[in-house]
Amino acid sequence: MKRSRFSEEQIIGILKEHEAGVSVAALIGGHPHVSARTLSELLLPILRLLQSERQVTAAQGAATAATVAAKQTSTLAASLDEARRRLSEQATQLQNALNEAARLNRALTELTHDLEQRVETALAERRLLAEIVENSDALVMVVDLEYRWLAINRTAADEFERIFGWRPEVGTNMSDLIAGRSENKAAIKGLWSRALGGEEFTTIEALGNPGRDQRHYEMKFSVLRDKDGRRIGAYQFVYDVTDRLEAEKRLAEAQEALRQSQKMEAVGQLAGGIAHDFNNLLTVIIGGLGQLERGIASISDQNLTTRLRRSCEMAQQASQRSAKLTARLLAFSRRQPLDPKPIDANRLIADLADMLARTLGEEVRLEVITAPGLWMAHADVNELENAILNLAVNARDAMPEGGRLTIETGNTFLDDDYVSTIAEPVAAGQYVLIAVTDTGVGMDAGTLARVFEPFFTTKPVGQGTGLGLSQVYGFIRQSNGHVRIYSELGQGTTVKLYLPRFAASAQPDRHAPDSTGRLGGDETILVVEDHDDLRSYSVGVLQELGYRVLEAPNGPAALDLLTRVDRVDLLFTDVVLPAGMDGRRLADEALRLRPELRVLFTTGYSRNAIVHNGRLDPGVQLLPKPFTFDALAAKVRSVLDQPKTTL
Ligand SMILES: Nc1ncnc2c1ncn2[C@@H]1O[C@H](COP(=O)(O)OP(=O)(O)OP(=O)(O)O)[C@@H](O)[C@H]1O
Ligand SMILES: [Mg+2]
Repeated sequence: MKRSRFSEEQIIGILKEHEAGVSVAALIGGHPHVSARTLSELLLPILRLLQSERQVTAAQGAATAATVAAKQTSTLAASLDEARRRLSEQATQLQNALNEAARLNRALTELTHDLEQRVETALAERRLLAEIVENSDALVMVVDLEYRWLAINRTAADEFERIFGWRPEVGTNMSDLIAGRSENKAAIKGLWSRALGGEEFTTIEALGNPGRDQRHYEMKFSVLRDKDGRRIGAYQFVYDVTDRLEAEKRLAEAQEALRQSQKMEAVGQLAGGIAHDFNNLLTVIIGGLGQLERGIASISDQNLTTRLRRSCEMAQQASQRSAKLTARLLAFSRRQPLDPKPIDANRLIADLADMLARTLGEEVRLEVITAPGLWMAHADVNELENAILNLAVNARDAMPEGGRLTIETGNTFLDDDYVSTIAEPVAAGQYVLIAVTDTGVGMDAGTLARVFEPFFTTKPVGQGTGLGLSQVYGFIRQSNGHVRIYSELGQGTTVKLYLPRFAASAQPDRHAPDSTGRLGGDETILVVEDHDDLRSYSVGVLQELGYRVLEAPNGPAALDLLTRVDRVDLLFTDVVLPAGMDGRRLADEALRLRPELRVLFTTGYSRNAIVHNGRLDPGVQLLPKPFTFDALAAKVRSVLDQPKTTL
């Protein structure tokens, strides 16, 4: 055996090559020292063996693989289950997530809607506020620290333009504009510099041209801050308070005027009350003196007669002065009987001119300026003359160094506006104006406020009673007129009397002249007077004059007499009587009993039935108290001699 030619290692090497895929032919070629035959004889069986072994191994491997596969399948199934479970879980989660997302989405939509609405509301509110600010009566301006306008509303721009002639705009600088030297600009600048300096304040300022278009503004300045609280400017709210201030002023004036007129009213009542009693007393005194005087004549002692007569005269003069004072007091208290008639003021003044010139003296020049076509005034002539005289005397006293007194007349109209400023009730309408102006010392405000008060005088004791202007005031008021004084210290004084225009419907006076020249008579006169002394005085005078006299202390007693006696020609009665029947009613009753009866009233003042609103009824005959012997004699005669008029 030639076995020795192949080593075992050679064979393993060849097998490995074959196994690695080298074909048999290539093997043979690669091993030339090995014969093909040897190779095929030796190697083929081995190779076959090896092949079968490989097949067995492969079959075994397949079997093993099947087992593994089976195992793997079950594992896979389990995994698949797991996967499915997870998948389903994830699906649920996904669904939940989707639901949540939908819910959130809805909430978001709602929120957005809500927000939009809020924004809309907020914007609307802002628009509204902006509109209100823009159209507000208030002047609104916002300015930064450099005096530049940050905002300005229309009212403010309009007003600024009106005052400064220049319309401000946002962004422009105020200091350029207010750099001028006018008072308004200085005021504006001062205020803004305070405000921009951080001061918050309210002030009232007058801007515009004084006397032309000046208005009063209430300005409230506030500090403007950013959101961090830093000061970045200032703003102002301004209201035009001109009307309010004027209304307040008017109210204050009205209150003052009311207070004044209430005071005058109270003083008037007091004065009137005193004057009324005084008149009664004076009538008795004057009457007594008259009787004394007549009695003195019969005294035989010449010396005594002279002395007594002088005393009597002095007493009479004093009584007359007292009577005048009382008359002025009554005039002031508006209780004197007035007898208004149509008056041509121009003529009245012309008639008075001589007397006025004498009163004024050489040093004072009198100028009269009468208006042509002057209306008739309606007033009591005597009292109007008194009033003008009082004014002239005051003017003279105010011009100790001389000067000029001007009396002017004119037709005027007091309008509603004017009369509304007067505390006393004065009707708007047509008035005749008499203005008395002097070039004298004038009055300060304190004096001016008190001139109408009775007994207010700045003249030395004995030189002024302080009743002159009281008479003027009372008379004009009682005549439904109006009196106004304009005066300034050193500038002279003007007193304006407004007398109501005579309305054609007023009755012209039908009085006969007071005296016919014949005093006394033999008619029967009934004297009704509650004041005993006064009654006996009147009775005495009338008896002395030759009349038959009956007397009664009150109305009912008088009526009783009238029913009992045969003849009564004249009823002479006081207006104010006790026992529930005044003179006017007594006269009415008496005339019913005796229609041919004449009636003469007497009164101290006029707040009663006979003098309605201070005016005599047409046809009513009145003898004002206090009356003198002569006055009573003349009046009684004139009434008896007059043709009969009805009451
Ligand atoms: N024309 C005037 N100019 C300056 N002051 C005047 C004028 N008229 C009146 N007065 C002032 O008003 C005061 C009151 O005047 P009124 O006529 O009531 O009284 P009287 O003149 O003082 O006294 P009487 O009139 O009794 O002489 C005066 O004392 C005076 O101070
Ligand atoms: Mg006077």
